[in-house]
Amino acid sequence: MAVTDLAAALAEANLSSPMLPENRGDPYRIYRFIREREPIHHAPDGSWVLTRYDHCATLLRDPRFSTNPARLTEGPDPSAMGPVRQVGSSLMMFLDPPDHTRLRSLVSQAFTPRMVESLRPRIQSLVDELLDAVVEKGEMDVLADLAYPLPTVVICELLGVPPEDRDKFKAWSADASRLLDGYLDKAAMDKGMVAGMYLFQYFTDLVEARRADPRDDLLSALLAAETAGDKLAHAELLSTATLLFIAGFETTMNLVGNGTLALLRNPDQLARLRNDLSLVRTGVEELLRYDGPVHVTARIAKEDVQIGGETIREGEQAVAILGAANRDPEQFPDPDRLDVGRTPNKHLGFGGGPHFCLGAALARMEGQIAFDTMIRRLRDMELATSEPTYRDHYVIRGLDELQVRFTARPPRPSATQPQGA
Ligand code: HEM
Repeated sequence: MAVTDLAAALAEANLSSPMLPENRGDPYRIYRFIREREPIHHAPDGSWVLTRYDHCATLLRDPRFSTNPARLTEGPDPSAMGPVRQVGSSLMMFLDPPDHTRLRSLVSQAFTPRMVESLRPRIQSLVDELLDAVVEKGEMDVLADLAYPLPTVVICELLGVPPEDRDKFKAWSADASRLLDGYLDKAAMDKGMVAGMYLFQYFTDLVEARRADPRDDLLSALLAAETAGDKLAHAELLSTATLLFIAGFETTMNLVGNGTLALLRNPDQLARLRNDLSLVRTGVEELLRYDGPVHVTARIAKEDVQIGGETIREGEQAVAILGAANRDPEQFPDPDRLDVGRTPNKHLGFGGGPHFCLGAALARMEGQIAFDTMIRRLRDMELATSEPTYRDHYVIRGLDELQVRFTARPPRPSATQPQGA
């Protein structure tokens, strides 16, 4: 189907682009329409838009696709990617093997499952402290009071950012993370670049401090990370610290925000969790599938590749709409239904293939503890706003705020502690 045909078909069905701010509330009916009509859509800017689960999963895993924006010869104006390329050229998410394999394995040595597990008691006490501060008031903004501070404090403590510096990061990170959004105007791009520079400068100073005086934190561990004498290059260390920082909370914050809204809009599923807190693990996976924080990622063909009968030519960009893939009925029965006990649930909320989210274990743990604790401690939680609004960001999907009301509950034991704890 030609480009204009899809645009006309959307218009005829009274629908418009899922990227438009007015469609933030429910992009899913548009995704469904596009997936059913033209699952591999050749967009006006030359890129390919994939909305089926199997196509997106293939794209993420096929080594004939690259994440390196420098390979882009078609699609969005490559000059617009210039500054992102400059700053991001040593970000692991924009590297291909063997550089990606080397960097990722070095970082993984410092970011082990054991290290993540050791954070559990601290994350639990943090969530408790954050809820202690609001529980008597009977109301809170889930974003400002829990979803934002939780991952920010966790990632700052993990990286070794001193508490007094944390506030500086809020605006920097919000602006810099917009660079991940391929759909930026010039002003937002400039703001993002400036914020990125501030973050780089901040981490440059902190790395020097840790080099002189190592501590028990991830930065010091990254400095020490070695495989067969292969140390992280200075630029890699800085970009990794910045990436972990941004990836570490812009996303997790929206898992808690989007997830709480989904549960409040599906009270039967909230009640299921309340009656059986052991469902919190499958529940968090389902929230990642149903309305996950990362909606889009992209790859560039290193050679001509066929997917679903279309040929993606070398240098062209293919965009995986993860949010659409996660609602594909071919993969998920009754995909628009929230089912906190859903198994199997091989969602693409954390991506797939070699770039699968490095922080998935941490994000899962933060999400599980946040939902478990909210459910145990807050009774009769309900929305205090009729129509929550979304941030002006397409790739990372999240709310501006989420006002809720509740009453405090007598404490109940947690379900998120590991077996035998
Ligand atoms: C709910 C929270 C999170 C979600 C939904 C999420 C989602 C994702 C997705 C979809 C990707 C793959 C992008 C692609 O293939 O193009 C990714 C990669 C990545 N994530 Fe996450 N993420 C989350 C939390 C975190 C946390 C807490 C950290 C670290 C502290 C983190 C660090 C990373 C890194 C470093 C990569 C790049 C991995 C690579 O290129 O090999 N993420 N994430």
